Order: sequence, then C-alpha cells, then structure tokens
Amino acid sequence: MTATHSFDYLAHNRAAWDQLAVQDCEWSRPVTPDIIAAARAGHWEARLTPGPLPRGWLDRVDGLRILCLASAGGQQAPVLAAAGASVTVFDASEKQLDQDRRVAERDGLALAAVQGDMRDLSAFADEAFDVVFHPISNLYVPDVRPVWRECFRVLRRGGRLLSSFYNPIVFVGDRDPEYARQGVIRPAYPLPYADLKDLDAQALDAKLARGEAVVFGHSLSDQIGGQLEAGFLLAGFHEDHQPNPRFLIDKFVPTFLATHALKP
Ligand SMILES: C[S@@+](CC[C@H](N)C(=O)[O-])C[C@H]1O[C@@H](n2cnc3c(N)ncnc32)[C@H](O)[C@@H]1O
Repeated sequence: MTATHSFDYLAHNRAAWDQLAVQDCEWSRPVTPDIIAAARAGHWEARLTPGPLPRGWLDRVDGLRILCLASAGGQQAPVLAAAGASVTVFDASEKQLDQDRRVAERDGLALAAVQGDMRDLSAFADEAFDVVFHPISNLYVPDVRPVWRECFRVLRRGGRLLSSFYNPIVFVGDRDPEYARQGVIRPAYPLPYADLKDLDAQALDAKLARGEAVVFGHSLSDQIGGQLEAGFLLAGFHEDHQPNPRFLIDKFVPTFLATHALKP
C-alpha cells in the first residue's frame, strides 16, 4: 500500500510531465513557425479552454508583461511573445519549458523560462506583471489558494488573471467504464477530490506505476471563492464544452471553466 502522507506528488508530477513532454502530448506540442509568423503579423490566439478567449479578455498584448503560469509546452508563451508581449513562462517541468525554449530559439523570440511550483512565485517581485495567463493546471496541486494569493501579489494594480480549470463535477463520478456504457453516472468521490486520498490503494499504485500525474479536484469555493479572497474582482466567467468527452458528464455539462479576474 502507498504511504500517501509522505508521497512527494510535486516530484512525481514533474517527472510525469517531463515524460509527457518528450512524448509530444497535446499539451506539449510546440506551435509551428507559421503560427509564430502569423502572431508577429498580429494574427494570434491564446486559449484557456478549447474555444477562443471571450472578447475583451486579452485583445492586445504588445508591450504587456505576461506570466504564463504552469503553461509551458511551447504553446501560449511563444505566441504571446511573437505578438509583442514580454513573456515569462513558469512551470514545474524542465522538459515542458524546453519546448518553449526550443520555439524561442527556432523563431528568434525573447522569452524567459523559469522552473518552479505554481504555489510559490517568490522568483518574481511584487507587481512584476500586467497579466497572468494560467490555463488548466491547478488540478496538479492539492491547494489552490496559495496560487491565487501569489498571482495577486505578482500582478500590478489593474492587472488581470486569466485562468481556467475543470468544473469539479468531473471528479465526482465512478470511472468504471461499465457505468458509462450503461449511461449511468454514479457519484463516488466527495469534493474536494484527491487521487491520493480517494483512489483505493490498488488503483493508486497502478496509476503511480504508469507514471501518470496525480490530480486534485478543487471545489468552486476554492477556485472562485479563493480568487475573491485573494483580493481579485471577477470581470468575466466563461464555460466551454469538452470537444473530446472523456466522462459521460462531459456530454451534458460544459466542463471547462475560465475566469477573468482583475486586481483592483
Ligand atoms: C495541461 S498543461 C498546461 C500547459 C499547456 N501549454 C496548455 O495549453 O494548457 C499543465 C502544466 O502544468 C505543469 N505543472 C504541473 N504541476 C505544476 C506545479 N506544481 N507548478 C507549476 N507547474 C506545474 C505541467 O508541467 C504542465 O506543463
């Protein structure tokens, strides 16, 4: 049985993402030179959810200091840099960051790539950024409130935090594929969810042995209430459907959530 209390999930998840990065997974596949050339010419998009960002969330980026938080993989950071932003990409996985470094070198872009844990942004001064861009990744840490507090600290007044995360409903159901086949969603895990606490020992050990990242399903109080508690004001909220449903619930509920928060 796994000793979950002493499990170093950060090291485990870093290694899992290092592995995904070299396997060219969807979140680790660098953008092409054409996409960078288009961004340089003013045609760019950076996604928090499968669909485009809502209008008004990030219409112009030239001259902005942007922190791409837990957002490595050679995707958003180089596009935003090509569009004229001054970009720092921060991520736990060096191999994910290498994807950004590679695109920057290939296409002659300036960007900073910094390794660390999203809950500790002490590498950055207070008010160092105009925008924090934080696509789905906080399921890899057990507590999100430190992330929101650190985002608030490193943003200037008037700065914005654009973040996305899963609707916590995705973590609740029993994942036995037989239920999905029968069209049944059987609630099995109360929120907040954590692989380390909620999977049985055999399932957890198998997951760890496969080298998969361990995940945590945060409540909406932690996700949205936590941003408000950190001092942010919500300026926008967006839901989006999962284009490739993995769970039955994905077919009924838009399971991607995104927020546009302002530091007053
Ligand atoms: C789904 S990927 C998101 C990046 C991707 N470019 C995208 O399009 O959304 C999740 C990222 O979170 C990073 N990550 C996981 N745990 C982290 C942590 N504790 N601190 C910082 N980054 C972390 C992973 O290395 C990975 O690059």
